[in-house]
Amino acid sequence: MTMTDYDDESYDATARIVDPGGADDERHFEAALRPRRLADFAGQPRVRDQLGLVLEAARRRDAPPDHVLLSGPPGLGKTSLAMIIAAELEQPIRITSGPAIQHAGDLAAILSSLAEGEVLFLDEIHRMARPAEEMLYLAMEDFRVDVVVGKGPGATAIPLELPPFTVVGATTRAGLLPAPLRDRFGFTGHLDYYAPEDLARIVARSATLLEVETTRQGIEEIAGRSRGTPRIANRLLRRVRDYAQVHAEGIVDHQASRAALELFDVDERGLDRLDRGVLDALCRRFGGGPVGLTTLAVAVGEEPDTVETVAEPYLVREGYLIRTPRGRAASPMAWEHLGLTPPVASQGYAQLPLGEGEGRFQT
Ligand SMILES: Nc1ncnc2c1ncn2[C@@H]1O[C@H](COP(=O)(O)OP(=O)(O)OP(=O)(O)O)[C@@H](O)[C@H]1O
Ligand SMILES: [Mg+2]
Repeated sequence: MTMTDYDDESYDATARIVDPGGADDERHFEAALRPRRLADFAGQPRVRDQLGLVLEAARRRDAPPDHVLLSGPPGLGKTSLAMIIAAELEQPIRITSGPAIQHAGDLAAILSSLAEGEVLFLDEIHRMARPAEEMLYLAMEDFRVDVVVGKGPGATAIPLELPPFTVVGATTRAGLLPAPLRDRFGFTGHLDYYAPEDLARIVARSATLLEVETTRQGIEEIAGRSRGTPRIANRLLRRVRDYAQVHAEGIVDHQASRAALELFDVDERGLDRLDRGVLDALCRRFGGGPVGLTTLAVAVGEEPDTVETVAEPYLVREGYLIRTPRGRAASPMAWEHLGLTPPVASQGYAQLPLGEGEGRFQT
């Protein structure tokens, strides 16, 4: 089974970035470019080493490894790693996602059909219904589900033993997972944005698979503007390839990369239209903030969830945006990036170490 079998309502929030091909085209490419083994998985050295150890130990014990939780922003490789885990264990993978499991019965049906050692991939696990979540705790800990037979006072719960298996959960919102669920994962891998040199390796690998001719500078230009995200890097590569085919005899070089990325609204720092829209609204409309997430989302015409999970983490990490208890604020860097002069009052935000601003703005 592959990601192309997805039929729930999950959507890819990173798709807004230069994707005229639509979802099907995208999934086709993603499947083709997905790393298959841990050795093909570039970057994330910590998570890769830790996971490598967990898997190797399980192989030696000849038993399924602990349950694994993968968290991090969209497009960083959670689904890829889930598939890699199954491939490294040489086990089949069953794929489903939180939004597809709305009743405990949905989960019971899946759990009771798992074979020993199988990998159950639960994507967007934070969106699973509460009763199913409770069933999952029990299944993960004791390898048991209680199947309820009948209704009303006559209903009885029949315990059903399950063979040992491994749950791999993925979430863009680890903070939304209830603690009891989080605690049942023996290993949590947090994926962070990729360094440009890792992205360059990913782009080079993808170019080889797509049989696109490149130059080192062309690759570096794409890698440097991909918001630290492999999915975006692969997508930009395809847009640059389009451009190169029309304007540069098919060669993805420095000039073709620059021109194509400009055409598709990706700026020198890799910020796209939504990123700039957020900063622009913050600075021009709200005087640099702080402003509440919902208000900010309305101003850019997006869902608060999209602003929070897609745009914000990167803007915070790069130091453009600051989260305060009273809302989001622009850093002086944000003003400068938009070619504006930061007001004197906002200088104070620059002094805050990132992520530690909590509490200082309380009124
Ligand atoms: N470390 C990596 N090395 C090579 N390619 C990668 C890596 N990580 C991700 N990719 C590429 O990026 C694409 C997106 O990755 P993936 O689907 O695993 O992300 P995700 O974290 O599951 O995203 P989402 O939260 O949107 O589900 C994959 O198709 C794959 O080609
Ligand atoms: Mg995924």
